[in-house]
Amino acid sequence: MPVSFKYFLLLCLLFLAACGGETEAAPPTPTLSPQAQLGKQVFSRNCGSCHSTTPDTIIVGPSLAGVATRAETRVDGFDAYTYLITSVMQPDAYLVQGFENLMPNNLSKQLTGEELDAVVAYLQTLK
Ligand code: HEC
Repeated sequence: MPVSFKYFLLLCLLFLAACGGETEAAPPTPTLSPQAQLGKQVFSRNCGSCHSTTPDTIIVGPSLAGVATRAETRVDGFDAYTYLITSVMQPDAYLVQGFENLMPNNLSKQLTGEELDAVVAYLQTLK
């Protein structure tokens, strides 16, 4: 077998190996909607100093990991959206057990309607 043909075969094998690797399905990356993405930024600027999104991590307020799921059953007759928006607009309406009323109650004035909707959309992704 001529040397150049051996190289040719070797190249073919390398090519196949490289392509074989690429056909494996990449794991799906969770992506946020543009609105939730904006909400995540609003959250880091206005909420992240008091709320972690890591489970069981208390800063000043409770961790908001899983809050979307808890929000469904927090208040009788409130769905997750209603509970979350109320928590931001009137933080003293329903206090989380074991926490004091330390959440600012002027967030509804500081944030635009778009930002409020966005931050709630972001909270709804924390299941
Ligand atoms: C100065 C600290 C502080 C800031 C800033 C703050 N929070 Fe809070 N938050 C708290 C505290 C303390 C509680 C618990 C007492 C209560 O229920 O109000 C709380 C409770 C909550 C709850 C209820 C959680 C549950 O498990 O029922 C939500 C939702 C929430 N905050 C969202 C937000 C969002 C969204 C922002 C930003 C727009 C924000 N907070 C900013 C301190 C803060």
